[in-house]
Amino acid sequence: MNASPAERAAWLRAELERHNHLYYVLNAPEISDTEWDAMFRELVEIEANHPELATPDSPTRRVGAPPVSEFPKHRHLVPMLSLDNAFGEEELRAFDERVRRFLESDDPIEYMVELKFDGASISLTYQDGLLISGATRGDGETGEQVTDNVRTLRGVPLRMREPIPGTVEVRGEVVMFKDVFARLNEMRSARGEQPFVNPRNAAAGGLRQLDSRLTAERRLSFFTYGMGYGSVPGAASQSDTLARLRELGFPVRPEVRVCLGIEALVAHVEHVQALRPSLPFAIDGVVVKVNAFDLQRQLGFTARGPRWAVAFKFPAEQAMTRLNGVLWQVGRTGVVTPVADLEPVFVGGAMVSRATLHNHQELVRKDVRPGDTVIVQRAGDVIPEVIGPVLDKRPEGAETPPEPTECPECGGPLSRKEGEVALRCGNKACPAQISAKIRHFASRNAMDIEGLGEKLIERLLEVGLLTDLPSVFRLATHKDELVSLDRIGETSASNLLAAIEATKTRSLDRLIFGLGIRMVGERTAQDLANAFRSLDALRHAHLEDLTKVPEIGPKVASEIELFFEQPENQALLDELLALGVAPVEPEGPSSARLEGLTFVFTGKLERMSREEAEAYVRSHGGSAAGSVSKNTSILVAGPAAGSKLEKAQKLAVEVISEADFFERYFVE
Ligand code: IVH
Repeated sequence: MNASPAERAAWLRAELERHNHLYYVLNAPEISDTEWDAMFRELVEIEANHPELATPDSPTRRVGAPPVSEFPKHRHLVPMLSLDNAFGEEELRAFDERVRRFLESDDPIEYMVELKFDGASISLTYQDGLLISGATRGDGETGEQVTDNVRTLRGVPLRMREPIPGTVEVRGEVVMFKDVFARLNEMRSARGEQPFVNPRNAAAGGLRQLDSRLTAERRLSFFTYGMGYGSVPGAASQSDTLARLRELGFPVRPEVRVCLGIEALVAHVEHVQALRPSLPFAIDGVVVKVNAFDLQRQLGFTARGPRWAVAFKFPAEQAMTRLNGVLWQVGRTGVVTPVADLEPVFVGGAMVSRATLHNHQELVRKDVRPGDTVIVQRAGDVIPEVIGPVLDKRPEGAETPPEPTECPECGGPLSRKEGEVALRCGNKACPAQISAKIRHFASRNAMDIEGLGEKLIERLLEVGLLTDLPSVFRLATHKDELVSLDRIGETSASNLLAAIEATKTRSLDRLIFGLGIRMVGERTAQDLANAFRSLDALRHAHLEDLTKVPEIGPKVASEIELFFEQPENQALLDELLALGVAPVEPEGPSSARLEGLTFVFTGKLERMSREEAEAYVRSHGGSAAGSVSKNTSILVAGPAAGSKLEKAQKLAVEVISEADFFERYFVE
């Protein structure tokens, strides 16, 4: 028996939230992102066709709502307080002593130790288990209601798995993962936009977007750390509360730990500190809370915050060093970036001698001048950054370096696209660009060409043996010249050529990444390889095919389209293929049986989800598009097909049933 739309929608909602919970809370996904997306789209479609079936806790609310002009104010039922800080072991011990003195206790205290997330705090209000509002901290008393934005955070339950009766506030922190942050900044720099200084700003800014679709794009995460108003029934301690909240569907980090007494506490704090660099998001310390609620009540509050908790801050990962100068570096897309040339200094677990200054505006804003002593920080534990100068130590006569007008490498004129801060060298033959392109192509995460490092690339460019990406593979026909270069012997030349030969069959995603398409990082390259499965399918993909790949937004898609639209890039690919480059395609069935055919699927499919059908078409060299156009070869229409069917009929596009599709095109 067929389910009614209402039944189907209810089932999809429950399943989607169940899978969300498996993914975000239990860390144990059972289905792929693609399967999730397929169910999600089906639900979107049902709700669009039957608006009366849409509910406030539907996962479809997570994609964002139309923009608002401002956020309503939200008064917290219980104020959002801040915590006293403790720096170093001594201050932590002093906290423990204060607690025991106040409680007049000689016994060891039970403490709950949690990560101190470096993000933006939010307060979620639930009414009988249903999320009714999400608000920022604001001044602690009153925040802003950013409910639509909060709904886009996949870790935030829209409904508790078991409702707590009445009104309660669940509190936690919104963070941006380091890899998401790196990718976002990569994209912003490529677009000539100001990169974010740290993940916290990116998360806080993301929460306050007036258009919640932009919040959704930031891919923020949420972790719970406790309650505001109300409590979890039956919980007598902070550890009970978090354990129970986890069962109700809230993400709680596994690093939380109950420690009995100060020695256990100190040891665990050290453990977390060692863990810090390997966490996928930034923390700036741990929060230590007296675990038992009856003790918390006895301890109470001072004017500043609770007596029962303290924020133990890890040492700032900052250092001072001398700015020797500012270098202007030409990247592979021609963007000219100022880079701080620093006296090497150890900070945040690594030696730092270079740090990006992003662009000239930023350099002026930070007011850093060669000769200055500057503060260097490793933001988000990875990217070294110059925070600013120590003005007391500024030498006389230090001046802000001017912005160059000519390319520091080729002398060509520099220009700036309207509305962008990035300065560019437009000379496609600029040796610095070519060198950067080849370096990127050969780099470890791209084609990984062993032995083809920066110095050798420079040398081979100088003598004209390297001129572009294909020239890497032409080196094989210039072995004698290679050997005759100083410092390259017969053996190392042979090794290099063998290494180059071996990279011809690197995986498709590595090749895509190596091409250096703007805004296409490693992950996007993997997404593309998995979605299109062959270089041929990718290089002929239309914008609509690209935007259908989960994770690829319209801007990235149009950059990719732009890249493949350029005849010189198509020629470059032809040349690489002619030289024997044969990327290994992702595993799975593959053939070119459907090459040249563009399919559109509409209506309800019985045997496969639309997503699966599309993947099948792509894996056999065909294209799958989201809308009907004159380029559509075949529309596969299931029951309840609507406007796409009409359009296909108008454009005289062939329409077939799902059964026809299987009969004609499907081969196991
Ligand atoms: S408890 C009264 N727990 O740190 C207790 N806060 O200075 C209030 N934070 O703005 C907070 N991780 O956003 C608590 N595990 C954690 C936390 C945490 C991060 C933030 C919170 C607050 C600030 C407190």
